[in-house]
Amino acid sequence: ASDQVWREVDAYFTGSLVAEDDALSEARASGVDTTMPQAEVSPNQGKLLAMLCQVAGASRVLEFGTLAGYSTVWMARAVGDGGHVTTLELEEQNAAVARKNLERAGVADRVEVLVGPAAESAQRLIDDGVAPYDFVFIDADKPSNPAYLRASLALTRPGAVIVIDNVVRNGAVTDPDSSDERVQGVRAVVADIASDPRLDATTLQTVGVKGWDGFTLIRRTG
Ligand code: DHB
Ligand code: MG
Repeated sequence: ASDQVWREVDAYFTGSLVAEDDALSEARASGVDTTMPQAEVSPNQGKLLAMLCQVAGASRVLEFGTLAGYSTVWMARAVGDGGHVTTLELEEQNAAVARKNLERAGVADRVEVLVGPAAESAQRLIDDGVAPYDFVFIDADKPSNPAYLRASLALTRPGAVIVIDNVVRNGAVTDPDSSDERVQGVRAVVADIASDPRLDATTLQTVGVKGWDGFTLIRRTG
C-alpha cells in the first residue's frame, strides 16, 4: 500500500480511538519550535506508550530525548498523580518548549527535565542512587542507543519495560554495511539486547504518519 493509504489508516484509528486534548495537540504542534521538527511520536504511538506504562504498572518513567515533551505528556499522564517522569534533553531550547507543554498539560509537578548530554544526566542519576525506574523510553540520538541501554540497565529493576524508538528507519536497519551511524546505533543495541540473558525483546514495525519505522519492546527479566 502507498504512503497515502498508511496515513489515512493512521488518521482513521487516531480519529476513532485516540483523543488528544488541547494540551497534547499543542505539544505536538510545538515540535516546530524545537531543533528537530517532526521527530515526535505520532498520536497513536503516544497512546501506545501511555498504555504500555499502564499495563506495566509503571510509576517511575525515564525518557531519553524530550524535544517538545509530547511523549512525555502521554507517559506523565499514564503514571498518574503519584508517578514521576525523568526526561533527558540535550538542548535548553527544547527543554523550554517542553516545560511549557508540561505546565499546560497539568503534569509539570511530576516531571523533571534534565538538560545536557543524556549519557551524563543518566550517569548522575546512577551516581545519586535514585530509585529504580519501571519503564524507559529511548528516543534520543541513535548512535548512543547502546550507551542508553547500558544506563537503563543500571537504573531499572527486573520486570522493567524498555522501549526503543526508530529502529526500522525505512528498512535501512537490515544493512550491516550501512554508513548511517543511526542505523549502526540501532544494530549495535539490537546485538546487545540479543546477547543479554536478562533481556527479552521483540520489534513491532510501525507505519503511518511517521512513515515506516518501529519500536523495539524489551522486558527485563533478571
Ligand atoms: C528522527 C528521530 C526520531 O526520534 C524520530 O522519531 C524520527 C526521526 C531522526 O533522527 O531523524
Ligand atoms: Mg523517535
